Amino acid sequence: MEKSRRLEGKVAIVTGGGRGLGRAEALALAEAGACLIVNDLGASPTGEGDHENVAQSVVEEIKAMGGEAIANGDDISSMAGGRNLVEAAMDGFGRVDILVNNAGIARPSPIYEMSEADWDAVIAVHLKGHFTTIRHAAPLMIKQGGGVIINTASQSGLGHWGMSNYSAAKEGVVGFTRSVARDVGQFGLRCNAVRPLGTTRLGTPAVMETVRYSQEELGIPANGNVWVGTTTNIPLPEQVGVCVAWLCTDAAANVNGRTFFAGGGSIGLYPEPDLERSCHQPGGWTLDMLDEGARAYLVGDLTNMFQGRKVSRLKP
Ligand SMILES: NC(=O)c1ccc[n+]([C@@H]2O[C@H](COP(=O)([O-])OP(=O)(O)OC[C@H]3O[C@@H](n4cnc5c(N)ncnc54)[C@H](O)[C@@H]3O)[C@@H](O)[C@H]2O)c1
Repeated sequence: MEKSRRLEGKVAIVTGGGRGLGRAEALALAEAGACLIVNDLGASPTGEGDHENVAQSVVEEIKAMGGEAIANGDDISSMAGGRNLVEAAMDGFGRVDILVNNAGIARPSPIYEMSEADWDAVIAVHLKGHFTTIRHAAPLMIKQGGGVIINTASQSGLGHWGMSNYSAAKEGVVGFTRSVARDVGQFGLRCNAVRPLGTTRLGTPAVMETVRYSQEELGIPANGNVWVGTTTNIPLPEQVGVCVAWLCTDAAANVNGRTFFAGGGSIGLYPEPDLERSCHQPGGWTLDMLDEGARAYLVGDLTNMFQGRKVSRLKP
């Protein structure tokens, strides 16, 4: 078999595969020989449905390349949607080898203005949307004796002003990935996550305003400790697709429970969290003892960088 066709005979599901990064992932997987189930609800960037048939258009692109693909329009934020999607793969192709959880929405606002609806919707699509598909695909993969799951996190999970619902969901995805990897590793399955970067319509004016406000008004980096460029220098999605497809191949058979950066010709491995510093008091601490011990060994040299230069968005 041609090395570039190394996913020949595999069946891959990509959620939110009708646009942006999901489309790039579906095309890269198809290019490597996989048969695709392209899932997409056709939602607006905030998750309200315009219900465009974007999944079908990616299916047409894959067929035009000589590949095989089926469109699916289920909402992966519901258990029924996750089940229907996995069943569609079984009905169409008889197996599931690869599951790429990518579908996503964004509803930015600072925590002191965030609505319950915005919190619930973002957690449902990103975090529950990973559970609903994995819960139904994993038993089938276990029965098959193998499978690869790629989850989609974000650099926003490292900390992002005005995106606390999104970063909670995305960092939840990272913890979920680590734990799922431990659950399924014994059965020959792998589960990894990517924090991708690519120009898509999810970079809405409201999302880009969180980046601008954080960096230009508050003077703090937009994502973790990274100063982020504007949409003009964010790379195209294609390279995310290639890196995700590669992680699905046997070349990455030794990789499980890890988190990667992918975008614009770069691929990187994130460290696993660990205690940065620690101190221990065998008999336990008092507040007065912590004043000395914790200040000396843990936090004495830290500064509160998030106080920023300006606090102006509180509604009167
Ligand atoms: N673009 C980036 O730089 C970037 C950075 C970090 C993380 N991400 C993440 O990558 C993923 C893809 O984002 P994108 O930038 O390609 O956005 P996008 O808006 O272009 O694509 C997301 C797709 O998901 C679909 N979708 C939304 N809710 C769905 C649901 N409930 N069921 C099925 N489909 C649904 C949408 O219709 C859309 O086509 C998201 O999880 C996003 O949070 C993107």
